[in-house]
Amino acid sequence: MHVISSISDMILARSRLKGTVGFVPTMGYLHEGHLSLMDKARQQTDNVIASIFVNPTQFGPEEDLDSYPRDFERDEKLAEEAGVDFIFYPDEQAMYPNGYASYVVPDGLDSHLCGAKRPGHFRGVMTIVLKLFNIIRPTDSYFGQKDIQQARILEQMTADFHLPIRMHIEPIVREKDGLAMSSRNVYLSPDEREAAVCLSRAIRLVESHFKDGEREAAVLLTKAEKEIQKQPLAIIDYVELVDYLTLAPLKNVTDRAILALAVYFGQTRLIDNTILE
Ligand code: PAJ
Repeated sequence: MHVISSISDMILARSRLKGTVGFVPTMGYLHEGHLSLMDKARQQTDNVIASIFVNPTQFGPEEDLDSYPRDFERDEKLAEEAGVDFIFYPDEQAMYPNGYASYVVPDGLDSHLCGAKRPGHFRGVMTIVLKLFNIIRPTDSYFGQKDIQQARILEQMTADFHLPIRMHIEPIVREKDGLAMSSRNVYLSPDEREAAVCLSRAIRLVESHFKDGEREAAVLLTKAEKEIQKQPLAIIDYVELVDYLTLAPLKNVTDRAILALAVYFGQTRLIDNTILE
């Protein structure tokens, strides 16, 4: 496995690759969720490139950019074990040099869920991913359903800008008790960690009512909210049921829909979701 920090070296190494190139963008502090994407890329493509870059432009001024967990040595080992061929590991100055002045913005897909709560977040995500796509020029790119709005927005960006990249959205990897894996789980105190299972519990509860035929959003949302509110440490940021394609709120679930949750435990904000269809 090669670690490359310079953009020109990465472009050169990429130009020498033959066959398909699977790309997994990450912000590092790798866990099983990230590794599942690398595994998929390994199975489906000839070359695997992962990037590790904590992208400052997707963090709000009050968010956790400075405290975001980082451990490059550990990440390097895990990526190598997962069969990654190249890690692209640029620094901030390379990606956003002095005088940097261009951004990509969403048009509507960010009006709900995290987009509504984190202004500018998806502008930062789209911008960095487009920049990474231009450097790596993957044939395939792998994203987690964990960040479903991100995955939808990037899938749409790829279609809208005619990028010749197959986009893969892979299932959420969970801890044994159901908590969705996240680099941010390390922020949780033991009590918060225990309380945090209420997200996946709420999801399973809604899935079972949906399976039994319940289609009214208000009813399904109340079930989720009540389940979360059983935990005094959990403060709901949003609980929403939206259309899979438009991400607009639904009154009734008729087509493919997403139940999406964002919940605070102290300062830590966790997200989770499920697709109802
Ligand atoms: P990061 O949070 O590091 O996540 C990298 C990728 O791993 C994303 O596609 C995310 O959805 C996926 N992922 C995270 N937790 C997962 C889990 N439990 N199961 C499956 N997949 C999971 O998302 C980002 O970084 C950044 O926004 C990025 C796209 C790299 C742009 O900066």
